[in-house]
Amino acid sequence: MVYHGIIHRYKGLLDIPQNIKAISLAEGNTPLIPAPAVAKALGASFDLFIKFEGLNPTGSFKDRGMTTAVSEAAHSGAKAVICASTGNTAASAAAYAARADMRAVVIIPAGKVAAGKLAGAIAYGADVIQIDGSFDDALTLVIKLSEKHPIALVNSLNPFRLQGQKTAAFEICDALGEAPDWLALPVGNAGNITSYWMGFTQYNTLKNTRLPQVLGVQAAGAAPLVLGYPIEKPETVATAIRIGKPARGEEALSAAQVSNGMIVSATDEEILAAQDLLAASGIWVEPASAAGIAGLKNKINDGTIDLEGKQVVAVCTGHGLKDPDIIAAKFKQPKILPPDLMTLEKEILHG
Ligand code: F0G
Repeated sequence: MVYHGIIHRYKGLLDIPQNIKAISLAEGNTPLIPAPAVAKALGASFDLFIKFEGLNPTGSFKDRGMTTAVSEAAHSGAKAVICASTGNTAASAAAYAARADMRAVVIIPAGKVAAGKLAGAIAYGADVIQIDGSFDDALTLVIKLSEKHPIALVNSLNPFRLQGQKTAAFEICDALGEAPDWLALPVGNAGNITSYWMGFTQYNTLKNTRLPQVLGVQAAGAAPLVLGYPIEKPETVATAIRIGKPARGEEALSAAQVSNGMIVSATDEEILAAQDLLAASGIWVEPASAAGIAGLKNKINDGTIDLEGKQVVAVCTGHGLKDPDIIAAKFKQPKILPPDLMTLEKEILHG
């Protein structure tokens, strides 16, 4: 059967105009990949699944929220969309706007967007504008621009974004039969953690699927929700979550508290180690996406959470291909050898 995306699959559960025409790229329906070797490396005996959101059409979870936000913008007659972005939102907005025959304007922090994301935004035909400022500066500006001009804001302040993104929680419950004991995920602007919590609570009310404890993970250099105050100059290798003033911070803190979970931080070293660990299981994610695993490891190590016998889902939000600069860090001086069998044999067998 042909799959038609999350609006088609879950429309009756989404707070969107029910006569909406879906602008879709068949997003969603991402796999839950068992990751026993990763769980073992974290040092506890539990069932771990990776919800691999990097397998969405533009390579990140943003497509779930963009199908609903752009469909609604088109439904309301908008001819253009705008967003601030650390990269993935930009690529996704660009793709869905192209699909809807709308203009996309994306504002990004100069020099802080990973190559695969910028390439995507350009390929899908967005007007890409770099600013000499942070994501937070860009967000403040696009809010003002969308108030002044007829251009639809598609950051996660747009409630239709959350309506789409909550479908990931529905999919997890549909696949497992109920919510997992814990859900771990990275937190940046905090739209996604808010959406998951909305999805799990809605499903629990409708279908009694229980609620997970939520572990939100920020990068240590961009951890306003852990520290309790905004960060003026956030810095992290996980550029997707390089955000100092999350727009939905209050909702994220509430989801963590009500779920009996927590929001914690992980250092860049811990995030990159988690990225390696996932890659060693064949799952290559961008750095930010590994933050959930890094946070789980920290909390298992310091004894704060006991996962023994539990079922855990870690959301890996974006594909490794988004941020190929890992090559620079790990593969500095590739040798170039003559094309002959003996030289290659020597290299392969003896290094
Ligand atoms: N993971 C990835 C790969 C992301 O791109 C983002 C956010 C997050 C996690 C955090 O999600 O903001 O809902 O808490 N990226 C946004 C962007 C900010 O512009 O692409 P969040």
